[in-house]
Amino acid sequence: MTMHRVLIGPSILSANFRRLGEQIAEVEAAGADFIHVDVMDGVFVPNISIGLPVLEAVRAATNLPIDVHLMIVEPERWVERFARAGANTITVHVEEHPNLYSTLRAIDAAGAEPSVTLNPATPIVMLEPVIPIVRQVLIMSVNPGFGGQTFIPASLDRLRRVRAMLDEMNPSCRLEIDGGVKASNARRIVAAGADTLVAGSAIYAPDGRIADAMAALRRATTDDEGEAER
Ligand code: DX5
Ligand code: ZN
Repeated sequence: MTMHRVLIGPSILSANFRRLGEQIAEVEAAGADFIHVDVMDGVFVPNISIGLPVLEAVRAATNLPIDVHLMIVEPERWVERFARAGANTITVHVEEHPNLYSTLRAIDAAGAEPSVTLNPATPIVMLEPVIPIVRQVLIMSVNPGFGGQTFIPASLDRLRRVRAMLDEMNPSCRLEIDGGVKASNARRIVAAGADTLVAGSAIYAPDGRIADAMAALRRATTDDEGEAER
């Protein structure tokens, strides 16, 4: 089977923040397609990460597209500011979000690509009403809040089902996966329909070389020898 080129985006959540500029330059040199930025408010998820000033710094450090993942309550209050600070794609969660449709429209109006996601236990039918107006759907394969968690295997079936929904309703929409992605499971993830991979701890491993980790992930997602799916 011919696969499209899979996009790989390091999540800077696992980067060394004392050297964030260098850590971004390193993944860029190693062939990253985009940078994933996790924004957490300590309310929607049990952790606080980074916000607008850090996004501005990331924007100044790279020309790669920046994919902002908002794990915050009331994201509608913030999407314009994140777009202005340099986000190319903005992902919001469906959970407890009565104004989802207008928030996605607001992201589009602010000049960023609207993207929608949901936690591992949220029914995928929740995505259906907004699929026609998004450029990306993100399947969370861990409970959001922390890097370095283990991939939830049921996410593969969720990818397959959402891929079928997209094929029917919005075929050019990207299907992204986030959480526990590694070289050892990336091939199965791509075979299940993901075309956009986020990886934090697998790329920014404290003891490994970033270039090697990126190369291993890239190899796992490239079908260059016509190798059979495993
Ligand atoms: C989790 C974040 C992820 C996280 C992924 O809440 O949304 O983007 O950085 O980290 P890994 O790849 O280590 O699971
Ligand atoms: Zn994320």
